[in-house]
Amino acid sequence: MATPEDRYGFGQPATLEQMAGWDIDIASDGKGLPPGSDSVAQGEALFAQLGAKCHGAKGEGTDAAPALVGGIGSLATDKPVKTVGSYWPYATTLFDYIRRAMPADKPQSLSPDEVYALCAYLLHLNGIVPADAVMDAKTLPQVVMPNHAGFTSPDPRPDVFDAPDPLRPASSVP
Ligand code: HEM
Repeated sequence: MATPEDRYGFGQPATLEQMAGWDIDIASDGKGLPPGSDSVAQGEALFAQLGAKCHGAKGEGTDAAPALVGGIGSLATDKPVKTVGSYWPYATTLFDYIRRAMPADKPQSLSPDEVYALCAYLLHLNGIVPADAVMDAKTLPQVVMPNHAGFTSPDPRPDVFDAPDPLRPASSVP
């Protein structure tokens, strides 16, 4: 029997290489992070070049793009300010998001080193890592975000088993 490709004359099986191009998700524990590394200083230079025009010189946000800093400690107040620093529970999501979607006018154009540098800089702007921090596949998953505990609580249903949280040893879970 003719395959759909034969019958309709379109389509071809995806190669492993093509599929690998789509398989770029990073797990919260850092699984999938590529080799490479870079620093806050390098990220600052890159952000000035590629991000400031939309997000503002220090990531404060503009009409074109949201703030990437600030709001830490504001979530439980009357005026919660949600940013990478105040809201996002995992630093590893930064790598996934920036590599996948930013800069918005040229997504997926950054090298792994550049993405690590931008993660380092945005984490530093939020006061989460020091000025001499270097991010790579080992250090980025170790960063504990201020709102890390804000999303989850143990699920009380007896048939649900919470996945172990890589940033909290089992003994520290209340
Ligand atoms: C390489 C430099 C850049 C970095 C590191 C960066 C980083 C980010 C991050 C982390 C977010 C998520 C914010 C959140 O949801 O809390 C974001 C969102 C966004 N960025 Fe950028 N950005 C860059 C460049 C740009 C540029 C050049 C533009 C405009 C052309 C832009 C436009 C936007 C917009 C519109 C959003 C919101 C998208 C949405 O919510 O769907 N960014 N960016």
